[in-house]
Amino acid sequence: MNQKTVIITGANSGIGKAATQKFAGEGHTVIMACRNHDKSQPIRDQIATETGNDRVHLEQVDMGSFESIRDFCSTYREKYQELDILIHNAAYFNHGAPYKQSPDGIEITFATNAAGPFLMTMLLRDLLSDSDDARILHAGSNIIKHFLNPKKEIDFDHLRNEPGNPREHSVYINYRNSKMALLMLTFKMAKEFADAGIKTYSLQINGATMSKEALMKVKPGWRIIARIQNLFFRPPEFTANLYYEICTSKRFRDTTGVHFNHKLDVMQPAKVDGGIITDIKQGVGADVYPAYALNEDVTEKVWSICCELTLAHSKLKS
Ligand SMILES: NC(=O)c1ccc[n+]([C@@H]2O[C@H](COP(=O)([O-])OP(=O)(O)OC[C@H]3O[C@@H](n4cnc5c(N)ncnc54)[C@H](OP(=O)(O)O)[C@@H]3O)[C@@H](O)[C@H]2O)c1
Repeated sequence: MNQKTVIITGANSGIGKAATQKFAGEGHTVIMACRNHDKSQPIRDQIATETGNDRVHLEQVDMGSFESIRDFCSTYREKYQELDILIHNAAYFNHGAPYKQSPDGIEITFATNAAGPFLMTMLLRDLLSDSDDARILHAGSNIIKHFLNPKKEIDFDHLRNEPGNPREHSVYINYRNSKMALLMLTFKMAKEFADAGIKTYSLQINGATMSKEALMKVKPGWRIIARIQNLFFRPPEFTANLYYEICTSKRFRDTTGVHFNHKLDVMQPAKVDGGIITDIKQGVGADVYPAYALNEDVTEKVWSICCELTLAHSKLKS
């Protein structure tokens, strides 16, 4: 078997944990990139024991903190030196949570779900380019369907709590903005990294059952809704198997810059002005993503904001 070295962020619970089990069970080297080391250590130990794979490693990282990501990447380079697969699975989404900023003064959802993954990828891309089959996977969400409404746009005016633009804080708006930004980064990185042979993919996740532990992170009122959703969602192992297929299968070796659905069909941009029936079909189906994701001006803005935010941090550090 062609053994890979894989980083999975947020590997201590839910889909990330199930993906770690899958990759480790198949004999790959897995680096679990987790925020809470003490909480994650027994999970790492359990997976290593159950799979009989002692190449399951745990490294601490807070994906919402640029300093933590830089520390992770420099430790990673020293200890592991090679990387084939980078799975950006960790995400911030907390029902009912108040407005919060990252340690770098950025709205926490965008920092954790878009700017943080961008920085980690940029800091590790040379290792990826040394791999003969490098793949990056972004965990997307069906929340981006909101952008099928042509009036919806990413709201860049609240990333740093800019004055003069009061909008009521919404966990959902922040989350959907961050996941749309991540999809745009997927398409942009595919072009930027093509010469280096690094492929980038995004997976639209429609839902995965939340573990007891994940449920406890949710505020009690919202927990009831999450429990009801759980009745309809697939287990995390289902999505973990999709991660595995996207990142290892030969059939995607020459594919890049695509957004997959849960059947691993390549999703297509939605038709705009297709009429009400088309709108309904597109809204309920899983075949298309909003055409907004291909907006080049907005994509350039996402890219330049990510560069600006992460570069500003590196200047502060030097
Ligand atoms: N579950 C769904 O219904 C659903 C639907 C659409 C998309 N998704 C996407 O699927 C991915 C996995 O979700 P899940 O359902 O498996 O969620 P989960 O069980 O809540 O796991 C999320 C993971 O991300 C980690 N994380 C959060 N903030 C972090 C940070 N700042 N730094 C490092 N790690 C951090 C968490 O660590 P801690 O344990 O330390 O908090 C946890 O390990 C996410 O990208 C999510 O947006 C999920």
